[in-house]
Amino acid sequence: MKSNKIKGGIKGNIKIPSDKSISHRSIIIPSISNGISEVNNLLMSDDVLHTLEAFKAMGVEITKENNKVIIHGKGLDSLSKSKENIYLGNSGTSARLLTGLLASQSFNSILEGDKSLSSRPMKRIMDPLRLMSAEFDNSSGTLPLKIIGKQLKNKKIKIDIPSAQIKSGLMLAAINTEGESTFIEKNITRDHTENMLKSFGAEIDVKKNGAETSISINGKREFKSNNIDVPSDLSSSAFFIVAALINKGSKINMNNININPTRDGILKALKKMGANISIKNQRTLSGEIVADLDVEYSELSGCELDAEMAKLMIDEYPILSIAAAFARGPSLFRGLKELRVKESNRLELIRLNLIRCGCDCEVINDDLLIKPSKIYNVINNKVRTDFDHRIAMSFSIMGSKLGNLIIDNADSINTSFPNFVNIFNNAGGNILWKK
Ligand code: S3P
Repeated sequence: MKSNKIKGGIKGNIKIPSDKSISHRSIIIPSISNGISEVNNLLMSDDVLHTLEAFKAMGVEITKENNKVIIHGKGLDSLSKSKENIYLGNSGTSARLLTGLLASQSFNSILEGDKSLSSRPMKRIMDPLRLMSAEFDNSSGTLPLKIIGKQLKNKKIKIDIPSAQIKSGLMLAAINTEGESTFIEKNITRDHTENMLKSFGAEIDVKKNGAETSISINGKREFKSNNIDVPSDLSSSAFFIVAALINKGSKINMNNININPTRDGILKALKKMGANISIKNQRTLSGEIVADLDVEYSELSGCELDAEMAKLMIDEYPILSIAAAFARGPSLFRGLKELRVKESNRLELIRLNLIRCGCDCEVINDDLLIKPSKIYNVINNKVRTDFDHRIAMSFSIMGSKLGNLIIDNADSINTSFPNFVNIFNNAGGNILWKK
């Protein structure tokens, strides 16, 4: 894929696709509830389709009608063993959430993934599940993973790694485990699983105590079905927000964007940099906060963000780094350790590709320092993505300023945002999609 300079900025109303995190949960939770749930605007991206196929393979009837996916849930114990191994492609969220859910089933399962997913850590979810007496036949700590399904024991567990995937995997194990399980989260992470479980009638109690959150679940309580409207994805909107902020003449608006406060760090960070973003018509949709966003070209300044911010915007550092490359001063983003274990080693790829673009950039321990220039002389116009969708989209936004950036393996964009190129080009972007 080749990303070229744009003139006159991006403009208009941009239709952002549905939220990926909420879409996964919108398949998993209705599949184990009782009755029919209608899901409006499910994201039809590769990652989400892998979750959907997994539940079909475990016997759940899922049909499609126009923009609705209809899920016929038959209760907590209704899943059956998949005939084939469950293939999850590139999707870390599917892998971690399903590991928890399947550990408490009465049958064994084998999870598999693509090359990138097969190198991502699974011990982080297996270890806390083992405290609930879960069993796995796996010595590598990565996929493929054989899960020995069994009745688990409720436990009180502290979650040390800031990860909504780990927390959600544990919660999905607890809902099918007798008695009360409690998970103590030291760090704030996205709370979509808690929100959706509540709206399906799960017995779940969430208590905040300073920085800690304690989540208690009374297991083996059947859920009722519910309809879900999936809002648009703030993470996907971030590519357009930054494209508008850095390209003169841009003025865009985007509706129905999920601005869940456990995930809205990107808006806070960009505002700190002086971004002209207005958040309007705040309302609630299926238990989540949504709003409409107006964004205009802005002169950005650099900023320093502490490690706490990383928990509220972990997926947005690649695109925030592009904004930082066009700010008036340097930026320092602290505490980005988790970026090393995403779809790629994002910390390293941000550094490498910014340097190739001619931007002075350094990784110091787990911190990222970006020193922007007024004029960029591209050293190497090949962007290396290691099949990571967010690296590919972020550097195509970089290309909208520098021109002539060649982005390798850009097909990965289909994991979260299949229409990215069309939508960007229709708004004034200039990306050539070459197979
Ligand atoms: C996600 C959680 C985050 C995020 C991922 C989606 C989720 O991962 O990076 O894209 O849907 O729960 P971690 O929980 O591992 O930080």
